[in-house]
Amino acid sequence: MTGAPNPTQNIDERVRESRQEPHLTSSERRRAVTTSARLNSVNLEDSPLRKLVTMTAETQTSTDWWMQGNYAPITEEVTYESLPVVGKIPSALRGSYLRNGFNPPGAVPFHWFFGAGMVHGFDFADGCVAYRNRYVRTPYFEQDMDLMTAVGDLTFSPANTNIVRHAGRLLALEEAHFPWEIGTDLSTLQSHNFDGKLNSPMTAHPKICPKTGEMLFFGYQFFQQPYLTYHRVDARGTLVQSEVIDIPRPVMMHDFTITENHAIFFDLPIVFDMDKGGFHFDRDAGARVGVMPRNGTNATVRWFEVEACSVFHCLNSYERGDEIVIQVCRAKSLMDSGMNDLADQSVLWQWTLDMVTGGVAETQLYNHAGDFPRIDDRRVGQPNRFGYIAGLRAAATPTFSASVFQYDLDERTAIEHSFGGTETHVFEPVFAPAHATAAENEGWILVLSHNDTTDVTTLNILDAQHFAAAPVATIALPQRIPFGAHGNWMPAD
Ligand SMILES: [Fe+2]
Repeated sequence: MTGAPNPTQNIDERVRESRQEPHLTSSERRRAVTTSARLNSVNLEDSPLRKLVTMTAETQTSTDWWMQGNYAPITEEVTYESLPVVGKIPSALRGSYLRNGFNPPGAVPFHWFFGAGMVHGFDFADGCVAYRNRYVRTPYFEQDMDLMTAVGDLTFSPANTNIVRHAGRLLALEEAHFPWEIGTDLSTLQSHNFDGKLNSPMTAHPKICPKTGEMLFFGYQFFQQPYLTYHRVDARGTLVQSEVIDIPRPVMMHDFTITENHAIFFDLPIVFDMDKGGFHFDRDAGARVGVMPRNGTNATVRWFEVEACSVFHCLNSYERGDEIVIQVCRAKSLMDSGMNDLADQSVLWQWTLDMVTGGVAETQLYNHAGDFPRIDDRRVGQPNRFGYIAGLRAAATPTFSASVFQYDLDERTAIEHSFGGTETHVFEPVFAPAHATAAENEGWILVLSHNDTTDVTTLNILDAQHFAAAPVATIALPQRIPFGAHGNWMPAD
């Protein structure tokens, strides 16, 4: 098949034919497959977004900021049974730290977020650490797809944004497709749709309840309705509830949050409009927070209006009497000038919802620009005293500073840990408890940092109870890890 794609072909046929065309370059193959991309009844053929993606594919060069410096992808998959350590890895630190991120294997993607996923895995035992990294080998990776090609088949995931463990499965997640299951050796297994029950994309930010073991999540769509669907998976991994939630327009919904009894949705105004080239901030669209009982329905959602803003990530939320407390990294806006406008200078805010009066109090908690907020995951949906956040530096592109912060939310104080000057950038700080029954904040912070001058990425282990002190251990990695996306600590059984 070398001529125009057959528009009646199904996705499987296109995949097979694409794999049989070794004479095509990756960008030629991508353009050929893109031509036949379809989504149910939605006409993507002449949309401005389609033209934008196609034009970008024709003209992009490696000068795009997401292909420069430590945003740029790496190409080697390596395995090290033991890495040299400076300091001492606590012997009680037993388990794995897995981290996913954007790592395009060939053609330059239209956007930072659309590089295929690569998982980096650190296995800790007996004071030693092993490391390996692997691409998530979905069709998106195998065929070097672009955004538009991946539309219309929920298995065509970049699987590039997060990796979680639930009910014995490791799931590599993006937010417009199904999850992909991977093995503990980071091999790619298969697309996972919960025995055929999942009927929407799955967010990259599910929440696992520490009390019930349930995994709660949502999926949003922007090319077609329903724009939002909520799902509940029980502790054994069975999808037991799906509910369509009405929202007035398609919006980017990257994260959500839970409390002990509620699921909470953020209907914020990063609106999708193909005629405007995709997502853009529309202050006039308003902003709402929806609170629904975890086993509720669309009819039971209570919506609270908040000031128009952008929120990529939520720190946590919990119930306090008749109130619901929600802590978010909030920016005034994002994507004002288009999808690649990601100079997010968010700071930590708190929304306090009064479930009796319907009122909302909006309070800025801290002044540090930062994102990628994390807590002790054993406090998800429960009152939390501590939070951890990666600092951001003002710049035209998303730029992490050299500092991570520990917030004591009860005392409204902060401790800063800096890894150096302007040439150093931190990644997401992830908390690993000292043991299963350890107190909140009793454990370690795992945080990567990258030095632009040496081009070395380092894994740092901080004692959370001595946050500003020198790391208890540092591991200089054999190859750098590009900026971007999320990871989690998975304690050994
Ligand atoms: Fe995220």
